[in-house]
Amino acid sequence: MESGSVFDPVSPMAHTISTVFIIVLIIASAVFLLVAGLVTFVIIRYRARPGQGDPKQWEGNLKIELTWTGLTLLVLLGLFGLTVFTMDDASPATASEQPDIVVVGHQWWWEVRYPAANVVTANEIHIPSGQRLLLQLESADVIHDFWVPQLSRKMDMIPGNSNKLWIAANTPGLYLGACAEFCGPQHAWMRLRVYADPPEQFSAWLADQAQLAPLPSDALAQRGQQLFQEQTCVSCHAVTPNPTENKVGPNLAHFASRATIATGVLTNTPANLALWINQPQDVKPGVRMPNMKLDVEQIQALVAYLETLQ
Ligand code: CUA
Repeated sequence: MESGSVFDPVSPMAHTISTVFIIVLIIASAVFLLVAGLVTFVIIRYRARPGQGDPKQWEGNLKIELTWTGLTLLVLLGLFGLTVFTMDDASPATASEQPDIVVVGHQWWWEVRYPAANVVTANEIHIPSGQRLLLQLESADVIHDFWVPQLSRKMDMIPGNSNKLWIAANTPGLYLGACAEFCGPQHAWMRLRVYADPPEQFSAWLADQAQLAPLPSDALAQRGQQLFQEQTCVSCHAVTPNPTENKVGPNLAHFASRATIATGVLTNTPANLALWINQPQDVKPGVRMPNMKLDVEQIQALVAYLETLQ
């Protein structure tokens, strides 16, 4: 089941945050209801009535003022204490440990690297369920913010600086996330999918990602592969799982195995892929991917090729 709600945490870190959030929400709601209720009561009870002059005026009341200042202070101190005591649980120390996964924020997609396995992918992170993994967060351009509410806290991705973040999922599933820092016109379409797989399934996935997809056997896909190399697609997108050079666009080595196109804008179907290649600026205005002005036949061939990249 897919979800992305902060009310449905599936890791110890997210659970702590969710608990504090719910407590703050309840207290804040109670304060709101109390204040709004008192204001409403006073407006009605002490309203101007025909034939009456101004009511009696008061100036200051030490007892009442001390009471509401003291109560406010107590509530704030209580919330402060609660926050401080849960910070370690929400964000355990990362020390100097090696990251399991490196995630790089780009306008507007996510590069995902598994250094030990020498795998590079994009926009979908697979993790083994029941294990805590250390992410290293970086940015290739502007400030982004990594947030998968059910798995961990938020953390900024800052150019020239790397941050570390623990994530975990107690149970297998798909957990949705998003960029939580405004990073340009397509910030809203910087979505993230985290798949927590049972550990054996995760290992199989990682091993598969490290392999090159089989070369296309049918003529149309072969033509597409040739176009991919000729039409400069290849200058921005790597089609090997472990490229030696960094490319500016997402790695497409196993593109066909992903659920969405353009970081969540379209579901990954051949028709949507054709639309995306044909009109990237209509699908996601401002995206770095140019319109290559290809004809229908060329687009069909490219789609056929990309669909072989399982
Ligand atoms: Cu990346 Cu907002």
